[in-house]
Amino acid sequence: MAILLYNGTLGTDNWLQALKQQLPEETIYCYPQLPNKADVEFAAVWNLPPGELATYPNLRAILLLGAGGDFLMRETNLPDVPIVRLIDENVAYDMTQYCLYWVAHYYRHFDSYARQQAEKIWQRIEYPPIDQYKVGVLGLGAIGTQIAQSLNYTGYQVSAWVQSHREVEQITLFQGVDEFAPFMAELDVLVNILPLTADTHCFLNLERLRLLPNHAKIINISRGAVIDEQALRSLLDTGELGGAVLDVFPSEPPSPNHWVWSHPKVKVTPHISGQTYPRSAAKSLVDNILRIRAGEPPFPIFDPQRGY
Ligand code: GLV
Repeated sequence: MAILLYNGTLGTDNWLQALKQQLPEETIYCYPQLPNKADVEFAAVWNLPPGELATYPNLRAILLLGAGGDFLMRETNLPDVPIVRLIDENVAYDMTQYCLYWVAHYYRHFDSYARQQAEKIWQRIEYPPIDQYKVGVLGLGAIGTQIAQSLNYTGYQVSAWVQSHREVEQITLFQGVDEFAPFMAELDVLVNILPLTADTHCFLNLERLRLLPNHAKIINISRGAVIDEQALRSLLDTGELGGAVLDVFPSEPPSPNHWVWSHPKVKVTPHISGQTYPRSAAKSLVDNILRIRAGEPPFPIFDPQRGY
C-alpha cells in the first residue's frame, strides 16, 4: 500500500524527506506519478485537483497538508473516509508573529516614519497607551485564540467576535449577530482568521466593513475570499478604511495588473503568515496513519460540511 503526496504549487520534496525519515518502509507516490491508484491507502494532500480524490478505490483517509481545507469545497464527490486536519504548532507561532509585527507597525506609526524619512523629517508621533489600542480577532479557533492571547499579553486591548457563547481568558468576547456591529465599531485593527466556508465567503462585505471606524486597518491571514475585494477597495479609496495587510487572495498570486499591488494603503505578502514545517508537522500525520492502521480513530477531524 502507498501514501499519495501532493502539496499544490508548494512542492513535496521536504514532505517526502520528512515522511521517509519517519516511515522508511513506506511506498510514497508524488502526484501525478501514480503507478497504481489501487495502492493508495492515504492521501496526504493540499489543493489536489477537484475530482481526483474520488478515484482511489482503497483510500482509508485524507490527511490535510495545510491548516485550511477549503480546497475540498470544490469537491462534489468526496470519498466517504475520515479527513484529518494538520496540527503544527509552528504555524500558530508564525501567524502570531506576523500579526504582532503588523499591529505594532500601525500602532507605532512606522508607516508614517518611512514617509518622513523619505522627506528627511524628524518628528515624533503620539500614540495612545497600549491598553487603549483596540485589536479585534475574527475567527477564534486554535490559531485565532493564540493570536488573540499573544496580543493581549503584549498589552493591547483585545476582543473577538464569536457566533455562540464561549469564554476565553483575558479576551473580551462579542457574541452573536447582535454584537457584531458593536465589536467592529471599537476597533483600531481587525485581524481576520475566519476559515473560508460557504457561510464566510465574502463575509466581510461592504456593509460589514463599513462598521469599522474610518481609521481602522485590516490584517487578512485566512483566505482572500472571506473579504469582498471590491468593497475593500472602495472603502480604502473613500477614506472609510485606514489600510489593509493582505497575505491571502481569492486567486493567488494576484494578477500583475491587480489593484492591490500598487494601492498606497495596502501591504501585500505572498501567503507567508504561517508556514507548515514538514519536519514538525509530519509527526502528527504519521501518528494518524499509525492510529488508523491500529484501528483507532484519527484526530482532529475536518468536517467538510462546516469547512473546518
Ligand atoms: C495555509 O494557508 C494553510 O491552509 O496551511
